[in-house]
Amino acid sequence: MRILVVGGGGREHALCWAISASSLCESLYCAPGNAGISKIAECIDIQANNIEGIVGFSLEFSIDFVVIGPEVSLVLGLVDELEKLGIKAFGPTAGAAKLEGSKGFMKDLCVKYNIPTAAYERFYDSKSAKKYIEEIGAPIVVKEDGLAAGKGVTIAYSIEEALLAIENIFSNNQSLSPNGLVVEEFLTGQELSYFVLVDGINALPLAGAQDHKKVGDRDTGPNTGGMGAYSPTPILSDELESKIMKTIILPTVEGMALEGTPFKGVLYAGLMLTSEGPKLLEYNVRFGDPECQVLMMRLRSDILPALLATNQGTLDNFSLRWSQDAALTIVMAAKGYPGKYKTGEKIVGLESIKANEALIFHAATKSKSGQLVSNGGRVLNICSSGKEIKDAQKKAYSAIKKIEWEGGFYRNDIGWRAISES
Ligand code: AMP
Ligand code: GLY
Repeated sequence: MRILVVGGGGREHALCWAISASSLCESLYCAPGNAGISKIAECIDIQANNIEGIVGFSLEFSIDFVVIGPEVSLVLGLVDELEKLGIKAFGPTAGAAKLEGSKGFMKDLCVKYNIPTAAYERFYDSKSAKKYIEEIGAPIVVKEDGLAAGKGVTIAYSIEEALLAIENIFSNNQSLSPNGLVVEEFLTGQELSYFVLVDGINALPLAGAQDHKKVGDRDTGPNTGGMGAYSPTPILSDELESKIMKTIILPTVEGMALEGTPFKGVLYAGLMLTSEGPKLLEYNVRFGDPECQVLMMRLRSDILPALLATNQGTLDNFSLRWSQDAALTIVMAAKGYPGKYKTGEKIVGLESIKANEALIFHAATKSKSGQLVSNGGRVLNICSSGKEIKDAQKKAYSAIKKIEWEGGFYRNDIGWRAISES
């Protein structure tokens, strides 16, 4: 088969790595890709939000199957456009991608189908949102509707902070989506990312993972796209997994079908494990980044038949094999991220890391006159596996020390929670 992967981050490098190992894969392309991906796939200079460009390329190069990494392509309707032309794709239609694209849509679905989530209200004007906040009190959470690259959520510990968040949203009128905004109850507990493949009707559990959203050690500083991840996670027992499937995932799959927008693709549930049981914080309609990197490291089965079965509605009776070993990834980012940072800086030493020590999935890298340089905020993922998370952690930190990049940094404690618990 001729496969096109859309995206150019660490997630897409991990997907290309897994897909390129499939016996079904004859040719592999990636749009736009990065310097690491270019070693295993032909990179095409088309951005993930250029729907017309991707569709045109797929037609011209007789692509059989398009695997989509980032949410932006999905929300913009790439799958719908490809389907019109009879090109198969992995991912939801724009209608089903609203599970991530509109927080209000997701919350209303939860209420309609009795899926546990934080209590909330939707607002379209600042006066009523502020009145509600004053009634409920803090801590409280304000969420913009629509894709905000992780920046649309304010956890307000005081009423003043919450009111300010509302003011900021309304003072910049353009940022208010026609779906309004969501104000919701503040939940406490541990967070867990849970991944399932869904083919419209059937759901195939993949695995759990935990991300590290804050930029600094011991979860300090601003939120990022994710500074490191590991899988499996000790907090996900079999009992908890069946509860998540029964109370959250399956009602969502059924609800989406009943709403006329059946979900196909990977459903990534962001969960809070509260004292009342697991509650849904958010849905993403794609693999997590960097969670995907650790999932691909642990997957023992050929990924391509699973992605195809997701598209074709044949996930029932499908099973996947997973390594019982743990996988852990550390993100190396440019100093200043998630704020301002430099690009175009030289990175050396990757070749001294052996394959049995760590795999390097590139995120924002490019090759400039044969030299590897940084090309964005999150730049490299150093991924290791081991019997326990602490073994994988040791290997990954020993490997990352071999990388020479003055302008780079990483967290020193990826995996701390799992290690302290076990
Ligand atoms: P979201 O984009 O909705 O997942 O929110 C981003 C992050 O904000 C989550 O990963 C949580 O850490 C936090 N968060 C979101 N909603 C809540 C909530 N209702 N209570 C507590 N924390 C939340
Ligand atoms: N790592 C968080 C995300 O992919 O949304």
